[in-house]
Amino acid sequence: MSPEERPGSDPKTQSREESFLPPQVVENLKQAARDAAVNSYSPYSNFPVGVAVLAENGRIFAGTNVENASYGLTICAERAAVFSAVSAGEKRITALAVYTPTDEPSVPCGACLAVISEFAEGNVAILMFTDGKQRWSTLDQLLPQRFKLKPKEKQ
Ligand code: THU
Repeated sequence: MSPEERPGSDPKTQSREESFLPPQVVENLKQAARDAAVNSYSPYSNFPVGVAVLAENGRIFAGTNVENASYGLTICAERAAVFSAVSAGEKRITALAVYTPTDEPSVPCGACLAVISEFAEGNVAILMFTDGKQRWSTLDQLLPQRFKLKPKEKQ
């Protein structure tokens, strides 16, 4: 594999650094994600997730996972947060923070990545963090070949 082919070698798909966002904004996002996880309704999995999305205009929207006795009706925290932003009129997401009280940071599931893709550019900053660890990534890295209804040039 040549250096050009290596994931991350293309500037467009390089991992986003915290420095792309003001530290205070990152802190606010993290706090909103942690706060949302407190409200998680996850009696079946015992896997609370809290997510905060940063909309283009700077507003932050949070969401948590809400489970159901009919398991398939469960909604992930990422989708809850994105739908909250869209419900408030926001259509562009510039960053997203995903908190789990786990040993390792948790990557959004494929369904949530597809939903994020609807409202974010490929280089959207995605922060996955726990109480002790954090990892930055992008949609380009986590879901490199995304379903699109129309070719890019027609959008
Ligand atoms: N979950 C999320 O909230 N986000 C994901 O990206 C993956 C999974 C939730 C769904 C369910 O309530 C619990 O985590 C275990 O799957």
